Amino acid sequence: MADEGIEKYIRPELVNFGGYAASKSPETLEGKVAVPVEDIIKLDANENPYGCSPRVNQALADYPDINIYPDSGQTELREQLQEYTGVDMRHIVAGAGSDQLIDLILRLFVEPGDEVINCIPTFAMFRFFIELCSGTPVEVPRDENFCVDVAAVKKAITKKTKVILLASPNNPTGTLMPEEDILKILDTGLPVVVDEAYYEFTGKTVAPLVGKYKNLMVLRTFSKWAGLAGIRIGYGLFPTKIADCLLRIKEPYCVNVAALVAVRESLKDIDYLMGRVKRLIAERERLFSWLKELKWLKPYPSQANFILCSVLEGGAKELQQKLEERGILVRYFDQPLLRDSIRISVGRPEENDILMETLKELGEGLND
Ligand SMILES: Cc1ncc(COP(=O)(O)O)c(C=O)c1O
Repeated sequence: MADEGIEKYIRPELVNFGGYAASKSPETLEGKVAVPVEDIIKLDANENPYGCSPRVNQALADYPDINIYPDSGQTELREQLQEYTGVDMRHIVAGAGSDQLIDLILRLFVEPGDEVINCIPTFAMFRFFIELCSGTPVEVPRDENFCVDVAAVKKAITKKTKVILLASPNNPTGTLMPEEDILKILDTGLPVVVDEAYYEFTGKTVAPLVGKYKNLMVLRTFSKWAGLAGIRIGYGLFPTKIADCLLRIKEPYCVNVAALVAVRESLKDIDYLMGRVKRLIAERERLFSWLKELKWLKPYPSQANFILCSVLEGGAKELQQKLEERGILVRYFDQPLLRDSIRISVGRPEENDILMETLKELGEGLND
């Protein structure tokens, strides 16, 4: 083989890097599921089933300057985000999804061998980026209600700890972190990231504390509430010193012109988008009440646009596969602290109806 031996040049810790188990794209399932691709119900990646604002589609279709690089200083975008968040633009940096900001933050703080505290189970990309920069993830288990164990976090701090990562609401558990717990962790003085990807579904935020605490960073995204997951646009609120560094270490054009247009139009259509967020919250509650009635699933209360369920009979992987065969995509987990669990993103009412009907049928099969 021509490329034999090339691995010896690869960073040893990355030769067998596990990667991220990304959600499946419906087009890759063509012919493998019982329904046509366009009828697949995608409840596996916490996307917004209503799509983006129609203003975004129109403005993208009309946009004339695709041949020109975007403003690397993100000036207009940061001004718009200042208005949206109420936080001065000197604190704001945007990226290609909040994923990119997690990456940049860790690259800014973590040298090989440094430790990053990660409260598991949580968003898998945290561990991914810690390992990508050769940091050591220090995993602190959440309690039985999936709340962060503040005392255990403090106990896990060593001289090598560089960052503490928190998500609120947490993915995949949907758990909101009380502000008093965040304050206790901020009091450690270590750099703390609070990932608020699902903020618009709760209205609860620590954004007003940014700048008051020199160690607080808050991450947000347009992927969920504004339906822009495919465009890749997120942002963070940082102490100005950190924002300055991030603006210098980011790729100059990491936020593309389509994302700039999409944010501008989304922020002109907040009422419309938040109307859909409200509908999703109502659907989440409807779905939760219904799931609670099933004897073989145990749903956990969620403050986001998804519901985590323990699968009490039949196995999570099997359930995910049976749903997939029927054209319904959900996420399953089988890892420490998250054995036999599935996460269902909340869909449109008609999608949730099909899901509920299918779960009912599968449940009848279990009792046979
Ligand atoms: C907690 C959390 N943070 C960040 C992200 C990534 O968001 P983005 O699409 O902005 O990269 C997700 C996506 O699922 C998430 O659940």
